[in-house]
Formats: sequence, structure tokens, C-alpha cells
Amino acid sequence: MTSYLLRGVSVLGAESRDLAIVDGLISDKAPADAEIIDAAGLVALPGLVDLHTHLREPGREDAETVETGSRSAALGGYTAVFAMANTSPVADTAGVVEQVWRLGREAGLVDVQPIGAVTVGLAGKQLAELGAMATSAANVRIFSDDGHCVADPRLMRRALEYVKAFDGIIAQHAEEPRLTEGAQMHEGEVSTRLGLTGWPAVAEEAIIARDVLLAEHVGSRLHICHVSTAGSVEVLRQAKARGVRVTAEVTPHHLLLTDELAASYDPVYKVNPPLRTAADVEALRAALVEGVIDIVATDHAPHATEDKECEWAYARPGMVGLETALPVVLSVLGERWDLIAERMSRTPARIAGLTGHGTDLAVGQPANLTLVDPSARRVVDPSELASRSRNTPYAGTTLPGRIVATFLRGEPTVLDGKAVK
Ligand code: DOR
Ligand code: ZN
Repeated sequence: MTSYLLRGVSVLGAESRDLAIVDGLISDKAPADAEIIDAAGLVALPGLVDLHTHLREPGREDAETVETGSRSAALGGYTAVFAMANTSPVADTAGVVEQVWRLGREAGLVDVQPIGAVTVGLAGKQLAELGAMATSAANVRIFSDDGHCVADPRLMRRALEYVKAFDGIIAQHAEEPRLTEGAQMHEGEVSTRLGLTGWPAVAEEAIIARDVLLAEHVGSRLHICHVSTAGSVEVLRQAKARGVRVTAEVTPHHLLLTDELAASYDPVYKVNPPLRTAADVEALRAALVEGVIDIVATDHAPHATEDKECEWAYARPGMVGLETALPVVLSVLGERWDLIAERMSRTPARIAGLTGHGTDLAVGQPANLTLVDPSARRVVDPSELASRSRNTPYAGTTLPGRIVATFLRGEPTVLDGKAVK
């Protein structure tokens, strides 16, 4: 196994020094034959961990595969991603989660951890085989019907009770479906102006409020996917103050973009939950800094061209995000490296109980890390993305920071900004 010497690297913005990678671990001494990487001006971060990725395999390999999504993740600085269950077939059995897990191992670019569905077929009627998925080779600990809300409160309660036995997590896509029927975008001034049916903030907030009460009652762990409104932040703040075992994520796009973009009628901006108002964006940023929102998760949602380049009403919701997440977060938070490491690596790894990721870049720790050039600027070109899909809302936008290298257990997955395989 090749050893590496990262010469003059700045770990999380600290004074530059040399860092060695030997036998897959961080070391303070490099052997004489170590490959030298000039890391002057580069910042090392623990490898990023994404709790919310759509890899589309099995079923929509035309939009993404475990391999292309893994490459996209590595190029974005990630060393582990959690794959959502809304595939076809749905990842609601041990067989499907093991398939995704195996495909991830074969690709070997990031650790792919499958998320299991909460209900059979994501239909919201009957609990899936949570225990069988938990005890499978994929060792599933997080369950989600993401894309759909577990709307039935009795089913949600039972799911929370079920996973309590093994300290599992239910990750909720908070959307009261009766309040979002036919919704096309955020309900507000812009939707009124455009004459599009609105997705009101309260549809998210009502489910979060209900579910923190259920999680509190049961004593289980709840995670809220893609929090998008200022009101949700307040519900979470109160729940956390009471000691409810709830964690929450925000996406890069909800930290940067607003519902005004829908005025273009360009479906690249259609996403679920929808882009909200500038006031929501401000509240989400503050909550992320404060820790009321624990982590950034991409909700990387690749879609084939025919599903995106059509009339707004028919377009699928979602945006690709793995390759732009860190640059977007850098543009929002600035070079607060320790905070970025906390929100994009350490805390997601800790929530998921993922060992070997999100650890300090200290001697003896697994060398899961990424090297970023913070001074670089990049104009996003969709044709350059490694994702099989092109639906990025940042085409033509200049974003700060370039991911120069990523290492997974000491093996480079990205070097000189290019995937190694
Ligand atoms: O925009 C979204 N796209 N939101 C979701 O919840 C699902 C996702 C998808 O699977 O495309
Ligand atoms: Zn979702």
C-alpha cells in the first residue's frame, strides 16, 4: 500500500505541517518511499459524511448508479454516504439493502451505507422488515420513507418503538400530504404571483411537531430530513431544550437559494421541500451555526434529462448536490473549518454510529480525509459533473473552494481534483 506525505497541509485551518498516511492510517512519520503531495495552501478536513443521498440503483441507473454516485461523492470530498431507500424496487428488504451495500463495496470509492424503508414499498401502510434489514450484512440503523412522509401517526409510533430496541433512527421526510396536494413550490407571495399551487411551511412544521412528541413519548431517536423553514427551527429548538432525542439536517440548496428562482419556471429549481423565502434561509443558516440544525446533508437527487427538462408541473423534484455541497457551505459559512467539519463530518458520523469516519486527523486514526484548496474558484459546469445526471441549480455560478484530493482508508479516491477510478 502506497504511503503519502502531505507536505505543508493546514489541518482545519491550523498552522501548516506535514501529515503522513501509512497503512491506511494517519501517521507522523512517512517512510522514505512515500509519495509526496505538495499540500501548501490546502486545508485537510475529515472525510465528509452525507446522511442523505439518492443513488437510484436499483431501478433508475439511467439517472445514477451506486458507482457514479460514489464517484460524485468522492469528488465532493465525501468518504461515506447513506443511500436513500426510494429505489425501484424499494430498499424495504434485507435483499435490496444488501445489494446496495455490495455495489458500494464493489465501487470502492466511498463507504455506502443503505437506509432502509420504514414502510413496505414506501406506501405508508405496513411496516417494512426493519429487523431483517438491521441484522443483514448491510447493518441498517437508519430507516426512512424519504420522498414520502410517514404520515400515519400510529405507524410512525410503531416504527419509533421498533427501532428503539437497537437504538435505530427514523428519518422523517416531514410533509403532511393533505396540505401539499398538487403543490408546485413554496406557498407565499411568489407562488401567488406565479399562480402555482403552494406547499405551505406548516405542512412541514406540523409533522415535525407531531413527531418530536411521538419520539419523546416513545423515547426513540428521530431525525428530520431537509429542514426548510424558520418555523421548523423553532419547533426543533423547543424539542431539543426538553431533551427530545431529535436531530436535524439542512441541505446546501436550502441554505443558499430562495423561492424567487421559481419565477424562471426552470424546473432545475423544483425540489421537495421547495426553496423557501430569504427569511427562512437566514433562520436555517443561524440554526446550523447554533447547532439547532445538527448537520448538512445533500439530498443529492439526480434525475434523467426527460424528468427535469420539461414543463415545471411535470418535472420531478430534486437537485444533484454531492460535488457542490462543500463549495456552497463554504460560501455560506466562510472558512470556519472546525464548524464545517462538525456539521459535515463528525456529527453525521456520530448520529449514524459510523465508526472510522468523522474522527480527528490524529496519529493512528483511519486516513479518511479530504484536501481542499480554499483559494480556488470554480464556475460550475454541469457537463463536468461525475454524476450521471445534470440537474444542478448552480450551472454557471462561481463557487469557492476546490476539492483537490480525497482519501478513503489511506487510498486516494481523488487526486489533482480527478477521480482515480
Ligand atoms: O427533491 C426531492 N427529491 N425530495 C425528496 O424528498 C426526494 C428526492 C428524490 O428522490 O428525487
Ligand atoms: Zn425528502
